[in-house]
Amino acid sequence: MTSAEIRIDLEPYSSDVVTVIPVRKGDVPEPLTSADLGLDADRLEQLGVTGTTGQSTRILVATDDEDGEAAALLIGIGDSRDEEALRRAAGTAARTLSKAASVVYDLVEPTDAELEALLTGHVLGGYRYDRFKSTDEGVIDAQQVNATGTTDDIEQRVTSITDAVVLTRDLVNTPPSALVPEDFADAVVDLFDDESVVVEVWDEQRLIDEGCGGVLGVGAGSVNSPRIVHLEYEPEDAVAHIALVGKGITFDSGGLSIKPAASMVGMKFDMGGAASVVGTIRAAASLGLPVHVSGWCMLAENMPSGSAIKPDDVLTTHSGVTVEVTNTDAEGRLVLSDGLSLASEQQPDLIIDIATLTGAQVVALGDRTTGLLGNEEEWRDRALAAGKTVGEPVWAMPIPEEFDEKLESNIADIVNSKPGDRSGGMLFAGAFLQRFIGIDDEGNDIPWLHFDIAGPAETKAPYGYVAKGATGVPVRTLVELLSTLN
Ligand code: BES
Ligand code: ZN
Ligand code: ZN
Repeated sequence: MTSAEIRIDLEPYSSDVVTVIPVRKGDVPEPLTSADLGLDADRLEQLGVTGTTGQSTRILVATDDEDGEAAALLIGIGDSRDEEALRRAAGTAARTLSKAASVVYDLVEPTDAELEALLTGHVLGGYRYDRFKSTDEGVIDAQQVNATGTTDDIEQRVTSITDAVVLTRDLVNTPPSALVPEDFADAVVDLFDDESVVVEVWDEQRLIDEGCGGVLGVGAGSVNSPRIVHLEYEPEDAVAHIALVGKGITFDSGGLSIKPAASMVGMKFDMGGAASVVGTIRAAASLGLPVHVSGWCMLAENMPSGSAIKPDDVLTTHSGVTVEVTNTDAEGRLVLSDGLSLASEQQPDLIIDIATLTGAQVVALGDRTTGLLGNEEEWRDRALAAGKTVGEPVWAMPIPEEFDEKLESNIADIVNSKPGDRSGGMLFAGAFLQRFIGIDDEGNDIPWLHFDIAGPAETKAPYGYVAKGATGVPVRTLVELLSTLN
């Protein structure tokens, strides 16, 4: 809702801006500024400046203008000057300076990548979701930010990417009753009214016509009917076709296999996969990336009621594969089953699904590291590298062959969970999803990656450039992956 805007004509060390100076840690801390501010070792020691990551120190510096002085903030980046350290430091600075109208970063001899990192970190770190705050808490609405040396190209790239992350965060942070499947679909239609991306919304009747038994089944218990939103960004010069499939459970109560009260808090975030599909396609279109990107947002509200699916029910998915529902809380894989076969019918070069899929992901990898599964090593390595470049940790997990046996059902083709067996829950889900990946013209499985973002979609406390609440993961990883295709 609130984040900074880049304005590249802002000058550092003037009385109406706060200048941020990154400080590297070392035997003697080193302010990485182009200006001579007299910040020698003795002065830094006096001020207690060490350059430790996240340390911030406010100072006044002398200027030539009539005010005679300007505010500056020294911000520690630790002992390296890599892009992630700069991004994080800028995120911390943005939160520290939430009441400043204008901020300029001054870094000695910055590269384009460093400038991009500082601005990205600042815009994302200063993000706040305040739509439902009744008081404004004095935070500046339209903060202006620059980093000396920034060009129009950098400004545009940072704006495209941060807008996409902010869009994703806003969707994910929205309370569940303010964003039911129909609202999500309407928001996507409005977003692309410039026709840069073709959007088609499938309502309940269309879902019936298309035989989408997974998403219909999950949505059956709710008064808010399910939807699929299909997006197509197809530039003329496309070098590859990537299909993105997102889990879009606008609220996951568990359904009749209802969650305990404490586990239900935060389940508005269960549409983070679908929101990241929208954000990624938004960025791809805005950057004009030469990649054909299709999106499938699988939207449903998972609620218990007299019309809800029951444990023991069998659903027929779009692919024709039948699924015995052993647990209605394992609903993400049900909506994705339809999405993965719809995407497969397009015969793309790669299918990527993104989902807040399993509590097991959080148990295995924690809150910040995405679990990456799939059927092909080369794409997997590219995705791992993309995550590393942008500072979104991603870790590869296997789909061991013995998990196939666990999928066996007595009365249908497969089960959606194995009651009483909690081992490798993230991997089980991967084995389930893999059943819905189609084959290409030559009879090979279509390359596929699965991002389990159950933990990383949300953070309870802010850190670096991640504001509290929705994180927007893995939009920047996906945009980076798309940007490296040629
Ligand atoms: N939406 C949850 C997964 C989740 C858990 C996301 C915690 C974010 C934080 C998913 O639909 C779910 O409930 N999965 C079950 C599957 C189980 C019943 C096989 C789980 O992981 O417990
Ligand atoms: Zn669930
Ligand atoms: Zn869920």
